[in-house]
Amino acid sequence: MKNFESVADVAQLSALIQKGIDLKADPLKAESLGKGKTMVLLFFNPSLRTRLSTQKAGINLGMSVINMNAGQGWQLEFEDGKVMNMDKAEHIREAAAVVSQYADIIGIRTFPSLTDRDKDYSDFILHQFMRYASVPIVSLESAIRHPLQSLADLITIEEHKKTARPKVVLSWAPHPRALPQAVSNSFLEWVNRTDAELVITHPEGYELAPQFTQGIRITHDQREAFEGADFIYTKNWSSFNQYGKILSQDEAWMITSEKMALTNQGKFMHCLPVRRNVVVADSVLNSEASLVIEQANNRTYAAQAVLHEILNTQ
Ligand code: CP
Repeated sequence: MKNFESVADVAQLSALIQKGIDLKADPLKAESLGKGKTMVLLFFNPSLRTRLSTQKAGINLGMSVINMNAGQGWQLEFEDGKVMNMDKAEHIREAAAVVSQYADIIGIRTFPSLTDRDKDYSDFILHQFMRYASVPIVSLESAIRHPLQSLADLITIEEHKKTARPKVVLSWAPHPRALPQAVSNSFLEWVNRTDAELVITHPEGYELAPQFTQGIRITHDQREAFEGADFIYTKNWSSFNQYGKILSQDEAWMITSEKMALTNQGKFMHCLPVRRNVVVADSVLNSEASLVIEQANNRTYAAQAVLHEILNTQ
């Protein structure tokens, strides 16, 4: 594996999931693999889980890890051919080349603009780093995907599934702010590579990008979707078609214990952070059905599995 951007970079998905599970059982089993290597993590927006779990993953593999908040007070120009006489002090060509000299692997965390759909869906910032860096790039969430989250989610499903083909439901839920589609897009494309039965439920107007939903059943009836489900994966996202807009904050879409009772003793999943009693009721988050803390734990082993693959090919 050279770069890690999406499930398309993974040759053997079941093997990568198993690698994460094996590393969880013995996190220091490859503690010398990254000895003498440095990973630089650049964050263009805040993070708790991604930042700490990826750092821990690198440490477990014997790497040195440097974290940097890249968006504040250090404005980068990503476009080519610009006259840089405004606020942006450095071009991605120099920045990516320079950081590549300090790092054996670079992790990048970006967010979409939620105003320019074409640019966001070209994953412009991540791809400009890939273009101008000379070392592997790991996406720590891009404008349109969150692959390390998705791998952690698949590890969690693998650990908790009771059948070979579990029913997995991606449900929209309300939120007061306009959020990216990245977690949901990514979750769909990763789960679609497994044998799971996948269903999406959301209010009308919240259709995700067709490239991520092709062939997946979509229903606007949340209760019908929940019937017999083994996993309820909940996430808010802003509209794709009316790009970045909030079209509904309908609290009837919040995840409640009464809706979870429709499932096949289903588990509740969310990538966190989550707004209690807006996205999901306390009674669900506080119940044994909730896997959110386990998902966050698995972020370390998802990152460790990916870094292990990259280090093995360096
Ligand atoms: N799930 C997730 O990516 O969390 P952070 O935003 O805290 O990294």
